[in-house]
Parts: sequence; structure tokens; C-alpha cells
Amino acid sequence: MPVQRTFLGRPLPPMTPKRTAVLLSTIAVFAIFTLVFTLPNSIPAGPSLGRFTDHKIPLPKLPKTLSPSILNPFRQAAHAPPVQKNSTSGEASWYSNWNWLSPFSSSVTLDENRSLLPPLIDRPPIYTYYDHTLQKENDLKEAENAILVTWRRAWWAQGFKPVILSPAEAMNNPLYAELQMLEVEPYLKTEFSRWLAWETMGTGLLCNHLLLPMGSHEDALLAFLRRGDYPMLTRFDNLGSGLFAGSKADIAAAVKQALSNKSLKDAKDFITAVKPKTFQIEQRHASLAYYDSTTVKEKYSKVADEIEADGPRGLMTLNKLTISHLHTTWQNTFSKGIAVLKPQPKYMTAAIESALKLAEFLTQCPPSPLPSSCPPNNNRCKPCMASHVLKITTPEVYRNASDLYTIGTVPHPFTTALMSSSKDISEINIPWIRRKSKRDPWLTTITAELLGTGVSGPARVVKFKDAVASQYGTAHSLWITAEKDMPEDLDWYFGFTIPRNATDRGESETPVPGPERRPKIIPDPKDGPVVSEDEILKEKALLKSAVEFGKARTPEEEKIRKAIEAWNMADTEAWRFARAFLERNRMERLKWEEEERKYAGGKAGAERGKNEGWGRWFDDR
Ligand SMILES: *[C@@H]1O[C@H](CO)[C@@H](O)[C@H](O)[C@H]1NC(C)=O
Ligand SMILES: *[C@@H]1O[C@H](CO)[C@@H](O)[C@H](O)[C@H]1NC(C)=O
Ligand SMILES: *[C@@H]1O[C@H](CO)[C@@H](O)[C@H](O)[C@H]1NC(C)=O
Ligand SMILES: *[C@@H]1O[C@H](CO)[C@@H](O)[C@H](O)[C@H]1NC(C)=O
Ligand SMILES: *[C@@H]1O[C@H](CO)[C@@H](O)[C@H](O)[C@H]1NC(C)=O
Repeated sequence: MPVQRTFLGRPLPPMTPKRTAVLLSTIAVFAIFTLVFTLPNSIPAGPSLGRFTDHKIPLPKLPKTLSPSILNPFRQAAHAPPVQKNSTSGEASWYSNWNWLSPFSSSVTLDENRSLLPPLIDRPPIYTYYDHTLQKENDLKEAENAILVTWRRAWWAQGFKPVILSPAEAMNNPLYAELQMLEVEPYLKTEFSRWLAWETMGTGLLCNHLLLPMGSHEDALLAFLRRGDYPMLTRFDNLGSGLFAGSKADIAAAVKQALSNKSLKDAKDFITAVKPKTFQIEQRHASLAYYDSTTVKEKYSKVADEIEADGPRGLMTLNKLTISHLHTTWQNTFSKGIAVLKPQPKYMTAAIESALKLAEFLTQCPPSPLPSSCPPNNNRCKPCMASHVLKITTPEVYRNASDLYTIGTVPHPFTTALMSSSKDISEINIPWIRRKSKRDPWLTTITAELLGTGVSGPARVVKFKDAVASQYGTAHSLWITAEKDMPEDLDWYFGFTIPRNATDRGESETPVPGPERRPKIIPDPKDGPVVSEDEILKEKALLKSAVEFGKARTPEEEKIRKAIEAWNMADTEAWRFARAFLERNRMERLKWEEEERKYAGGKAGAERGKNEGWGRWFDDR
């Protein structure tokens, strides 16, 4: 019996061989048209046609906009997609859409300056409860605030939206009045307020602020929690009230059940006030580290003693310990070290200086009150030792290995051209671009190992975008542009305070492996040519003039810039993409901070006295 084909549930007439042939040839013709007219760059244009026409080279005809589809004669006048909210920052602008992996953004956004980015991934909320209304000493408040910042940053870096709840949210719950009527111990009241506040907010996670995620981004439990869909009210074995996950209906049912318990007075906490069956108990939680008092007493008695002796100071010490454990976990995840990409190593030492400095900071041993301790969830961690710090390499190519962190510096093609030709800026002109310069040198080099040679620019761009902006990519790499400073909020990318040079600020309190004792990295000739100090100075001057060139836009310079961008479409696309992606990340965080600041909890858990910023550490530009 012939197979009955269906399309959208409707049966299709049987395919005769003739019909099949007609269909196939239609598809073939369509495919050829699409290829020829929409992807002019996929046909390798010999690096320099000028070679054959030499002598008088006409100025290249530059399209007004760089949209590849401009060459498509059948292209219809189309409206550009609507501008999304908060999608511009400085010169960068973007449009978030599912088809972000198309090679050239402008073919969709119809605007050369607007990059196509992946849709922002929804961050599931994770709540913690903090009563900021209680009267407390100032230094205790400061210490608790520092702990809340650490908590927010760690969960933010893992893809969650940390929210600090306060009694205001609990009071919004209709059951709050009922709770006030109950005669229970004050600590039980707090415990219930926590749950009432959670119920008010709805589906999500309820977390103690001393419980932190310490695992890789791909960890199965963290990935599950990030999905934001919790079929059962769940708690974690041995973690007590550290973390709960549940949907609004389940939370409401549990709260109702607890409040109607006749012998509530005898309950120790929320868990014992309800039937055991209310919770599903999850056994696997290797990526969650809980610093409750029992654990701290047992494993970090020195810190526990300090808390006992002097609360605020002890909490500060505990905070330092948790930060060092977050850092250690990160270092253990990327055990192969950090790759600071350095294509065209002869010319790019100055351009990657910031990236290299960041790598040095990240490989430092964090200041810690107990330097050789491990996080409570991982007794077999490898604590950072000054004698065995992570390796920093400067390969020319991007390698996709799960235990290697990559820091890429994307230069604008003009910067690449200027630095790699070592010419004076006035010698970069259009004939030189067409005759001498290579096409897309940067992207071709970094993807050489991944894609081999003989692959077109568009295919390389797609791979690059995947490496930058996919979920996997974001967790394993950071891409900055060569002309801009480092993002200010790097700590939020990594989820812990990155140790800047502690001695620099004259406050190194670390008795043990302080950064100051680290051997200075000496460039390894294996990683590429080592350039002299003089050459680096020259590179710095060139980089500076490239940056200034990008800012000043005289018509003449604009023409050269456009010519370079048209000649290096893939490199330009990569640069714009990296710039927009970085800006959007910054914007996402700023927007969230802005929202959170409105609430009472916003004062708690806000970074204070910060803005020593990164400028100071990277400012030799
Ligand atoms: C893109 O940005 C540049 C510099 O800001 C500007 O000169 C140019 O006109 C913009 N292009 C479009 C299509 O808006
Ligand atoms: C009510 O609370 C008490 C004290 O914690 C507990 O022993 C009991 O099991 C609870 N009853 C119900 C129905 O959950
Ligand atoms: C890198 O490897 C991961 C997993 O092996 C894969 O999901 C990802 O697509 C790869 N990225 C690139 C740019 O090849
Ligand atoms: C830290 O600062 C000291 C002195 O200011 C300097 O000698 C050292 O190189 C710096 N270390 C790093 C890693 O920057
Ligand atoms: C986002 O846009 C709104 C108005 O649309 C503006 O008020 C707000 O300041 C913007 N946020 C950021 C972080 O720029």
C-alpha cells in the first residue's frame, strides 16, 4: 500500500514521479536564486580584483547601506522591524529575535547599525526574605548588605533574577492578618512572613541568602531551576529551609495547611508545620552551597568563632569566605585555564592588554580567611594555590572546550587594518584597502581551527555569533571590543568579586597566597612572537589613533571607514554584534537594578561605595 502523506493533518494527493521532479526542480531554481541574490558574500570575491586592473583603480562603488539584500532585484521595499524598548545604548542598537543566527543583521533589521541579537532569556525569579525594618547596628546592616550583594550577584551570573522580599510583600498577603492573630514565637512569625511574601510573588524559588549556587552553568540541577517550571513543591534533602521551589498554587496550599495546624505552636519551622508529603524531597543538590550556622560551625570553625565574638566582623569574614569559594568553583570549572585570543600576534599585544589583565585577575587566588578550604558542597575542590595558578594562553584561534574560558577582543576592521599594516593613519586609503589588505582577517583567523580554510565569511559569522551569544557561549566566554573599555560590571558576569590587585589599594589582609606573591607572567614564545616594549608603545599609539578615528567623523574619514567596512563585511558584523551584545547585557542589568530600587528591599543588597570601577585598572589607554 502506498504511504499516505499528510500536511498539517490533511492528506495530500499521492506523488507521482513526474510531480516529484517538477517540485524538486522548482526548489532547485528557487535555491539558486536565493543564493545568487541574497548572499553575494558567499561567493568568494578574490581578495583583490585590483590586481588585474592595476594602475588606475576606480573608487569602489559603495552601497548606501550595507544590507546584502540590497543587491536583490526582487527585494520589496519593507518596513524595518519596530524598535524594541531599551534597545539603544550609545552607538549600539539591537533587535532581539529568534532568527539571530542569520549571518548579516542588516538583512533583517534594514539598518546597518542595528544588530540582530538572540531574544533575552527569561530569568526565573529567586526570592530571599530580608527584614530591613528591624532596628540594627549600622555595621551589622552593612555586613548583611554585603552578604545580600554576594547572593544577588552569584544568582544573577547563573541566569536567575534575584529579588529581595521584605515585610511589605508579606503584608500584601490577605493571610497576613490571620498570622498576626496566631500566638507563636517571633522566629516562627518571621518564617511564616517569608512564606506569605513568597506566596504574594508566586511561582519561583525561595532561598536563604546564605545559599549560593556553586557549580558549572550546565549543571543539571541549575539548568532545571532555570527553566522556571516547578511541577511539585520541592525542598532539598539536608538543606533544611535553604531552598524551596514551587508554583503559586502549591505554595498557597502549603501556607493554608500550615496556618490551619492546631498545634502550630510546637512547630520548629515551616517544614514541620505541614504534612511531610507536602514536599517532594530532592536528593541531588551538588551545586548548592549552604552556609547555615551548623555547617559553618562544623567546617569553618574559625569563622564561626569570629561571628560569635563580633557579629558584624564575623559576617564580613563569612562573606569573604563565600566569595572565595565562588571564585574557586569558577576556577575549578575552567581547569584548562583562560584563553585570551590574540590573532595576528605580531601586532595585537596592545589591543588585548585589557583582556590579558582581566585574565590575570581571574587567575589570582582570591583573598580568603581560610585559603585552603573548600565549599560545603564540594569537599574535593582544588583550592587556588599561588604556586599552581590557572594557565593563561594567548592562542590565535578560538577553541571550543568546556573547561577553557575564552576572552576575545574584537577589533573594528579599521583598527585591524591600521595595526597590522603598522602604517601611518594617512596611508590607509581606498586603493590600499582594495589592493593590499586582506578580507576579514580577524574572523578568518579565529575560526581557522573550527571551520578550516575555504569557508565563506557568512558561515564564519554564524559560528562566531554562536560562540558569543548562545547560552553555552555566554557561560564560557566574554567578548569585548578593542576600542571600548572593559564593562564596568564584570563582577556580575562572573558572579563574584574579581580580585583586583589588593596591594595596590594598600589593604592586603591576606596572610597567605596574596596576589602580590604571584610570579609575573612572562610571555611564552610558544604563544606567539614576543614584541619589544618599543613596539608595544607604537601599537598603543596606533590603537589610540584608531579609537580617535572612530570618534571623529569627518566626511573623508567616514568614506574610508565605510570602504573598510564594505571590504570586511564579516569582521564588521562580528564587531557590531559583540558591541551590541555587551551593551544589551549591561542594559538588562541596569534595568533590573532600576526596578528593584523601587522596593524597600532595594536599599538592602545594593552595591555601596562602589564605583572604584574598572577604569582604574585598565586605564592606561
Ligand atoms: C550608522 O551610524 C553611523 C555613526 O553613528 C551614522 O553615520 C550612520 O548614518 C548610521 N547609519 C544608519 C543607516 O543609520
Ligand atoms: C502540626 O504541627 C505539629 C508540630 O510541628 C506537627 O507535629 C504536626 O504533624 C502538624 N500537623 C499537620 C496536620 O501537619
Ligand atoms: C561548542 O560546544 C558545545 C558543546 O559541545 C556546543 O553546544 C556549541 O554549539 C559549540 N559552539 C561552537 C561555537 O561551536
Ligand atoms: C600589584 O601591585 C604591585 C605594586 O603596586 C605590582 O608590583 C604588581 O605587579 C601588581 N600585580 C598585579 C597582578 O597587577
Ligand atoms: C528604558 O526605557 C525607559 C522608557 O522607555 C526609560 O525610562 C528607562 O530609563 C530605560 N532604561 C535604561 C536602563 O536605559
